[in-house]
Amino acid sequence: MSEIVWLDGQFLPRDEARIAVDDRGFIFGDGIYEVTRCVDGRLFEGRRHLVRMHAGLEGIRIAATHLPSDAELLALHHELLARNGLTVGQATVYLQITRGAAPRAHQFPAGDVRPTLFLSATRITPAESLRATGARAVLLPDLRWARCDLKTVNLLGAVLAKQRAVEAGAQEAVLHRDGVVTEGSITNVFGVLDGVVRTHPVGTRILRGVTRDVTLELLHAMGQPVEERALLVEELPLVSELFYTSTTQDAMPIVLLDERVIGDGTPGPVARRLGAAFAAALTDPARLT
Ligand code: PDD
Repeated sequence: MSEIVWLDGQFLPRDEARIAVDDRGFIFGDGIYEVTRCVDGRLFEGRRHLVRMHAGLEGIRIAATHLPSDAELLALHHELLARNGLTVGQATVYLQITRGAAPRAHQFPAGDVRPTLFLSATRITPAESLRATGARAVLLPDLRWARCDLKTVNLLGAVLAKQRAVEAGAQEAVLHRDGVVTEGSITNVFGVLDGVVRTHPVGTRILRGVTRDVTLELLHAMGQPVEERALLVEELPLVSELFYTSTTQDAMPIVLLDERVIGDGTPGPVARRLGAAFAAALTDPARLT
């Protein structure tokens, strides 16, 4: 069965989907995206992804006028999953909205340019084998811009960091700026210090991950002390656990940061409890749309 995507008002086979060379997403990276986890055809925390999508649209000033309503977008996600045979098992839906196609000029195009809307769906295999052993990460300077809270398709900072990680045989890069651990290249980062789970507070230096918010809720429900206070680079040698969170990874323990072994080199108790809590959360009807 050929993969079906949604582009500008229609479902079509992936290899027939075409965007204009003038699309501002292609030319300027002028757009936003979302990646939503789906379980048996339903969206995990779908409403939160829509809220963040709207914040992103407002943040880069793309009007929602020509875009489908939230109800229509949810229906599109559901139909896309169905058309791709993804109503059983786990998948992600990728959504991208750009400012549309217009002759190249940096300022917004004049007139009523329609945003480009693209969605695709992919089957995923949850990363359980890596979760069992724990992941490796590298520590790198955060070279990204000053609005990391916006989930824009300008991802060169993430691309370069992730490539460095992969070249080092690692799965993720942990980024730091001004002596502070911000987040991962495509994840949020948490550490356990003196029994307290710490993560960077929301603000312009990190993306407010949907999984980050769920993680905080699960930790609170476990009675685990948590502080939204950034870890300092100089505190990294003291952490008993480190883990990263994202839509596709849930909470992934880091057991090696550069050459430094974290804890005893195996996934720690907080990450293991979170792994079990996520497994339950993913089938919690209250979190599925
Ligand atoms: N990345 N921080 C950054 C910089 C990210 O790119 C992501 C997500 C996250 C985690 O957000 P969430 O929990 O909502 O997935 C944090 C996605 C998955 C990606 O770029 O593919």
